[in-house]
Amino acid sequence: MSRFIIEGGSKMEGEINVQGSKNAVLPILAAAILSDGKNVIYNCPRLRDVDMTIEVLKNLGCRIDFERDCLEVDASGISGYTIPDELMRQMRSSIIFLGAIITRFGKAEISMPGGCEIGNRPIDLHLSALRQLGVGITESHGFIHCVREKSTPADIHLNFPSVGATENIMLAACMTDGITTINNAAREPEIIDLERFLNRMGARIRGAGSDRITIEGVHKLYNAAHTIIPDRIVSATYLACALASGGTVVLKGADSSHMGAMLSVLKNMGAEIYEDKQKIVAVSPRRLKSIGTIKTMPYPGFPTDIQSPFMALATQCEGSSVFVENIFENRFRHIEELVRMGADIKADGRVAVVIGKSALTGARVAAPDLRGGAALIVAALAADGTTEIENITYIDRGYEALEERLSSCGIDIKRRE
Ligand code: EPZ
Repeated sequence: MSRFIIEGGSKMEGEINVQGSKNAVLPILAAAILSDGKNVIYNCPRLRDVDMTIEVLKNLGCRIDFERDCLEVDASGISGYTIPDELMRQMRSSIIFLGAIITRFGKAEISMPGGCEIGNRPIDLHLSALRQLGVGITESHGFIHCVREKSTPADIHLNFPSVGATENIMLAACMTDGITTINNAAREPEIIDLERFLNRMGARIRGAGSDRITIEGVHKLYNAAHTIIPDRIVSATYLACALASGGTVVLKGADSSHMGAMLSVLKNMGAEIYEDKQKIVAVSPRRLKSIGTIKTMPYPGFPTDIQSPFMALATQCEGSSVFVENIFENRFRHIEELVRMGADIKADGRVAVVIGKSALTGARVAAPDLRGGAALIVAALAADGTTEIENITYIDRGYEALEERLSSCGIDIKRRE
């Protein structure tokens, strides 16, 4: 299993070009099957999750060309409408293909996504919305069988602003005659990016970024080119790395307008944050102050995906910090690894209390999931001595060229196969 070996104690100093957003590109790659011909995606990050999505596209019959950060998807004449078990097990978020495959073929056969490391990840909101759009759905032998019995618009109310369900509805309704409305829609920037791409293809979607999205069905979608927005979670992770190491970092290409809740927490810690349209600069203060209570919420609230990296940073704050994880039921698995490094953290249910400041020491730890792995990177930069992080294939799912980017900022990090 691949590992990172990180020497703590160096200040992170330098510039980082921020990668394209993983959670924007995945649904956009699903949308790319909705036109015949080539869709071109720029600023596409090189990640395991993108590689696995490319496998799904190839399994459907797409031709793929991926040069540097430019990914071309040619869905001319594709005929596959299934996502097999082995692909779904590799990446459960392939569920985002459901709406697009149904729009393209009027049917879909996909293996049940099941849960993952951070929770059981139900898809009831996805399936209920698809049924309202006229899709007949049966589940048997571990597969979800979908057939569009009638193409009908719907006025859909989500009882939780689910990101994936919002995206699946946009993909399933964009060529459905009439007006479909999503009430209590997710408001994440990645939803806005999907709307932008679909409208470039000729869709008529309005309201992404608000809690009410309207989708006027069109009869055809055309090829388009699109540049993916920067990854706000990766951006905030690098800021946490810089502050944990007592350093200074310039994030080039970051979009601070997507990061309000995260930046305000860092400012409350005492970090000096400077931002303009092209970059974000973070300068470490002499001491970090505790951040009080942080509750993860749907956007624009504090993102669940940055909870664990910021918890690792909170171990370096003086005083206690409280984290409440409201989104996923099993997203504290990084805590026992941080405790092995000397952190003082107590968790009970969805609440974790961090007592800082802890003098962390390097240790052998294992990434429990994608963002829990990122938390261990943050902690390793603050720790005295050598930290060995195993299971880094989790981290490779969402962080492009992490060791190159940290090394360019003076961090001693090596990958060992
Ligand atoms: C997306 O997952 C992101 N993944 C997640 O990022 C992110 O944590 C999450 O949104 C919340 O922001 C991608 O975009 C690929 P949800 P998604 O549907 O769509 C419940 C990362 O680290 N729910 O908004 O699966 C669910 O159990 C990943 O990059 C239902 O109950 O998230 C959870 O409690 C992790 N029924 C909550 O909603 C449903 O049908 C949020 O889920 C769907 C969801």
